[in-house]
Amino acid sequence: MANPRARAVVSCHPHSELARRSSRRMEVDYRNKHILAPMVRVGTLPFRLLAADYGADITYGEEIIDHKMLKCVRRENDLLGTTDFVEKGTNDVVFRTCPEEKSRVVFQMGTSNAVRALTVAQMLHEDVMAIDINMGCPRSFSLSGGMVADRPRYPAQWSEIAAVADALSIPVIANGDVFEYEDFGRIKQATGAASVMVARGAMWNASVFSAAGKSSWEQVKREYVRKCILWDNDIKSSKHTLKEMIVHHSCFEFPEGRAVIKCSSNADLARLYGEEEYYKTVTEYRRETTR
Ligand SMILES: Cc1cc2nc3c(=O)[nH]c(=O)nc-3n(C[C@H](O)[C@H](O)[C@H](O)COP(=O)(O)O)c2cc1C
Repeated sequence: MANPRARAVVSCHPHSELARRSSRRMEVDYRNKHILAPMVRVGTLPFRLLAADYGADITYGEEIIDHKMLKCVRRENDLLGTTDFVEKGTNDVVFRTCPEEKSRVVFQMGTSNAVRALTVAQMLHEDVMAIDINMGCPRSFSLSGGMVADRPRYPAQWSEIAAVADALSIPVIANGDVFEYEDFGRIKQATGAASVMVARGAMWNASVFSAAGKSSWEQVKREYVRKCILWDNDIKSSKHTLKEMIVHHSCFEFPEGRAVIKCSSNADLARLYGEEEYYKTVTEYRRETTR
């Protein structure tokens, strides 16, 4: 597509194919949905649950490349109540999900090979609502060595999305420059798209999904930190997401930004944000349940 911002998100549903074989067909309804967009390093479990708490109907995970998933084993994490895909021989969680989000989470896979894509889909299709195959991304959001996020530099061109939505009979998801709750209606109206997806607007303030209006970003940040503690989020992802929020609303050079850089664990984050009690409660509860 000429304009990378005006993209129709076409999801592939291995569910359909696999489920047909087991005569258990599942359809995903992509109409009238407010959707959390895929975002590298940001869209891990705590952030997806945060967005859902504020009203997101469908939540995409960050793009993960097929090669990375193929190195993983699936593990039930009884301590957290999650399903983890962990890189073999390490404790690195590449993808973590939980039953609470099963009906709305979309796993985005970066791939250029149908066999690898199918193998990965078979590994996790029972754990997610749908799998989004990203084969045609004009920019690289995920690089094999380390994840690198690219971001839009020009205003979104909603009129181009309108042309796509007009030409297709399948539901088209519009995205680009949705920063306020009212923008969901505006972009739908302007494009005729079936649903709306939001990336940066949600990253900067996940309560953009709330029909009741935005909460303060400080409040949203606190909720996020608690969820990172509760779901034992990868500290690199937590720090990256907090950094994005702070840079947008404040200044990363301020003491808060510098203190975030120094955090090397969820315990550090809890201390920084005055959530020691919460951290203590969560860790004690885990200790009790493993006895
Ligand atoms: C931090 C960040 C990470 C992103 N990661 C991905 C990704 O993993 N996969 C993808 O398809 N798009 C990714 N995108 C693109 C967004 O999903 C979205 O299409 C784009 O940001 C435009 O929407 P917006 O105006 O709401 O930000 C990313 C964007 C940002 C800002």
